Amino acid sequence: MATTTTAAATTTSKRLLVSDLVSQDKINQLPPNFIRPISQRPNLQNISHDSIPLIDLHDLHGPNRATVVHQIGQACRHHGFFQVKNHGVPVSTIHNMINIAREFFRLLEHERLKTYSDDPTKTTRLSTSFNIRTEKVANWRDYLRLHCHPIENYIHEWPTNPGSFRDHVAEYCRKTRELSLRLIEAISESLGLERDYIGKQLGSHGQHMALNYYPPCPQPDLTYGLPGHTDGNLITVLLQDDVAGLQVLRDGQWVAVDPVPNTFIVNIGDQMQVLSNDKYKSVLHRAVVNCEKERISIPTFYCPSPDAVIGPAPKLVTDDQPAVYRRFTYEEYYDKFWNRGLATESCLDMFMN
Ligand code: OGA
Ligand code: NI
Repeated sequence: MATTTTAAATTTSKRLLVSDLVSQDKINQLPPNFIRPISQRPNLQNISHDSIPLIDLHDLHGPNRATVVHQIGQACRHHGFFQVKNHGVPVSTIHNMINIAREFFRLLEHERLKTYSDDPTKTTRLSTSFNIRTEKVANWRDYLRLHCHPIENYIHEWPTNPGSFRDHVAEYCRKTRELSLRLIEAISESLGLERDYIGKQLGSHGQHMALNYYPPCPQPDLTYGLPGHTDGNLITVLLQDDVAGLQVLRDGQWVAVDPVPNTFIVNIGDQMQVLSNDKYKSVLHRAVVNCEKERISIPTFYCPSPDAVIGPAPKLVTDDQPAVYRRFTYEEYYDKFWNRGLATESCLDMFMN
């Protein structure tokens, strides 16, 4: 049976977080529990840099809307991933978010561990890897996970150190929510659905985020920050700092998404794949690590509320294209997503008709 590890465990030499393994124990070899079997290693020499589309959202609310909606639709259909510029999130909001994340991960171990938990049902928690209760091999990542919509239900749980954490993160959440809603409308339209169709399927809506921290790694070719996976939510809006690490699978080849300042990376999640009845694919992606630089990435996971019932849009179900998935609640999906520990890359198979 899984037990909850508490901060008290840090009094032993075993570190809960990768960041403390690196900074306190100054290791120069990967501990065995992080090492992948040879067949599962990242093969970092064989990576393409032919990147994903970059879409300018400047015209999304003007006379050229249809052109931008078309570009978004094409990117969703063929890549499942795109980058956006002129997205409406102020540069200062982005900088404050990255800086506060960096400051958070630089706090002393005992200060950070105040929010530590390995229980995926907790709405605010610092943890490591993916789900240490169910996985067999650990990943080179620490992360602070926050639920952020409706913000007033969760903000009182968030860290108060650094002092401006709640203010900066709340501002960032509001702006990325606005962006997510605009993208969801455009994606809905691009599928030939009413502009508000997808938004109306999400119950009272949900928004989570992660502050991912990938410390420098002594042997990056033996492990992952995050192994190949699809995102279980509706769409993800990812901010990364200036260190590369995200890779996307295209035609069997891993493609690096190298950082472009002040842009966001948007990807289709499993719920969008279901709603679109497989027209848009939730694409495999992974995070690799490097031996020199720490890396921060901040995904916003826009999602249905737990009670929302998700299924293929009736308009996209025809005799030729029958419903690929059954209907389910997002709560049911979310439980499966966390419990498999990323051992399988996606949980969509479990919800097929
Ligand atoms: C994730 C994810 C990629 C990255 O957190 O789901 O895919 O670049 N992160 O950190
Ligand atoms: Ni992901």
